[in-house]
Amino acid sequence: MTFKEKIKQGIPANLPEKKVYDTSRNHAPKRKEILSDEEKKLALKNALRYFDDKHHAILLPEFTEELEKYGRIYMYRFQPDYKLYARSIEEYPGKSEQAKAIMLMIQNNLDDAVAQHPDELITYGGNGAVFQNWAQYLLTMQYLSEMTDKQTLVMYSGHPLGLFPSNKNAPRVVVTNGMVIPNYSKPDDWEKMNALGVSQYGQMTAGSYMYIGPQGIVHGTTITVLNGFRKIGKSPKGNLFVTAGLGGMSGAQPKAGNIAGCITVCAEVNPKITQVRLDQGWIDEKITDLDELVERVKIAKHKQETVSIAYLGNIVEVWEKFDEAEIFIDLGSDQTSLHNPWAGGYYPVDISFEEANIMMAENPTLFKEKVQETLRRHAAAINKHTKKGTYFFDYGNAFLLEASRAGADVMNPNKELGREFKYPSYVQDIMGPMCFDYGFGPFRWVCASGNSDDLKKTDKIACKVLEKLKEKSPKEIQQQMADNIQWIKGAQENKLVVGSQARILYADAEGRIEIAKAFNKAIKKGKIGPVVLGRDHHDVSGTDSPYRETSNIYDGSRFTADMAIQNVIGDSFRGATWVSIHNGGGVGWGEVINGGFGMLLDGSKAATKRLKSMLFWDVNNGISRRSWARNDEAIFAIKRAMKSEKQLKVTLPNKVDESLFDSLT
Ligand SMILES: NC(=O)c1ccc[n+]([C@@H]2O[C@H](COP(=O)([O-])OP(=O)(O)OC[C@H]3O[C@@H](n4cnc5c(N)ncnc54)[C@H](O)[C@@H]3O)[C@@H](O)[C@H]2O)c1
Repeated sequence: MTFKEKIKQGIPANLPEKKVYDTSRNHAPKRKEILSDEEKKLALKNALRYFDDKHHAILLPEFTEELEKYGRIYMYRFQPDYKLYARSIEEYPGKSEQAKAIMLMIQNNLDDAVAQHPDELITYGGNGAVFQNWAQYLLTMQYLSEMTDKQTLVMYSGHPLGLFPSNKNAPRVVVTNGMVIPNYSKPDDWEKMNALGVSQYGQMTAGSYMYIGPQGIVHGTTITVLNGFRKIGKSPKGNLFVTAGLGGMSGAQPKAGNIAGCITVCAEVNPKITQVRLDQGWIDEKITDLDELVERVKIAKHKQETVSIAYLGNIVEVWEKFDEAEIFIDLGSDQTSLHNPWAGGYYPVDISFEEANIMMAENPTLFKEKVQETLRRHAAAINKHTKKGTYFFDYGNAFLLEASRAGADVMNPNKELGREFKYPSYVQDIMGPMCFDYGFGPFRWVCASGNSDDLKKTDKIACKVLEKLKEKSPKEIQQQMADNIQWIKGAQENKLVVGSQARILYADAEGRIEIAKAFNKAIKKGKIGPVVLGRDHHDVSGTDSPYRETSNIYDGSRFTADMAIQNVIGDSFRGATWVSIHNGGGVGWGEVINGGFGMLLDGSKAATKRLKSMLFWDVNNGISRRSWARNDEAIFAIKRAMKSEKQLKVTLPNKVDESLFDSLT
């Protein structure tokens, strides 16, 4: 059978051979056992409904074993034998180019080189799923291969509900992941519903088929480090950034530090991960001795080097030692996994990595005590540095939240609404006011031809567009434009493509629209093949997340999710090829609602119309909400947007003279 035939057959009529569980592959951890016996039966019945009843007797014991062993039914037997990766668009079978583009993006998210646990259909973040099981994958690909541009495929948390008649202007696919009734949105509710096979955690770009490997996080972190230095009025050159974590996302910090041009010291307790990052070239040097680290940093400062140094050990030791040795830290943060503090996200100080792993499993109560003790020491050491002038920010990893729960000294003595902690989050002080409020966010594209030359050409086109826009852009956004021009110029050299031929940069609504228009023109002229547009959900309008993306909203609405919902609805009728909306992602199930889109550019006039309409809304929706929350940068941006588009009329806030309140007391 050819690849196309295999896709078109969906779930095979004859059972494929049972797979051997390959222990050398990176598998998802065993999930919590949460189902009662009665519920286990339900989970099995749910799984078997994908198959002809003649196979049930064989599949039932197999699925029972999977549920017992792994806590989930992945249906390993049905994992395809062909390689999953982003093929060129014409290699996919089908009647709809848009549907083929979606197949390409799905396969990219499940590529061995891209996905974290490909056998369990997990792209990143430990639980960011594209599908819950292989039957869902097979069925979805089959539907996509047979659908026309007058149908829409409905996806419920990985399950393809079916093809429904729609029209050529409608999205080809509408994805919802983990959407539940709010009262049933505790972490254990996810465990249960996921084990039953009725819901999944889509993270952000996993369940929306928009992941592009580590490039996205390197770019975002670079922008954060650059703007962090700007926030404190310093150049990165010769100045010091101290942080922790060399894991999935955190591993981008030293690479970003190098691109920004500072000295980075990043602590990591896990020797294996540290070695991987060193071999990969994402860190320049590894040091295991604190005195040696101090000497090395002194030299780097003296010579104003751009260098990234991994300290193999606990981050608390670094903060304490640098205080004692009087090493001044300009910028400080932390990216240990404190959203998951009791199961390996954060390691206690003065205990070896191996001992900590044993304690975590054998004496979780003591482990928790040690973690909390470490957090108190960690915060105390940071406080000493910030008294000397260090600027510290929370990197969306729940550091301040967990430290506060541990009784550490991190609360703001002059508590105000939305500023409960002593230190800001990276969105509150950096990404929010400097990027999101102006509409700058993670715009991305994938060259659907799979041709690296196309990517080179699109890089050039995007750069030219931004340079032209920069000439006329107001001073408020000049810096963001300059950063992204510099990024795109160095993008080829930085060799960040893993999987599909993808690129990311931060642009505002105007930038995104102009770049997309230029791509569509180039496609029409036959200079490049079709292009898929998209973005990370971690953006201006796509995500309502009170401690991250919307943490710089201070009118009390940061716990609402109207923006993310409106965004996805608005995108869907303005021309998106597919849309998705998720519960959970980044900060946890129940903690965030986030959405995104994908759009195929095929060089047609219709595509130009769609991109203008949808991208304008996709960015300005969020700016309007941020402006209504009285954020000055967003008020500036939305007024500018209203000037350029007369059909846009947004309700603007009137600010109250604070002194009026004095008369009330
Ligand atoms: N990069 C971003 O833009 C971004 C944005 C928002 C949130 N985050 C958050 O950052 C956190 C990290 O994400 P990740 O994917 O890298 O997680 P990860 O678990 O892969 O990596 C964290 C690393 O920290 C190390 N570590 C734990 N405790 C330590 C300690 N005390 N000292 C030194 N090292 C220690 C771990 O060994 C691990 O390798 C998550 O909570 C994530 O949600 C990142």
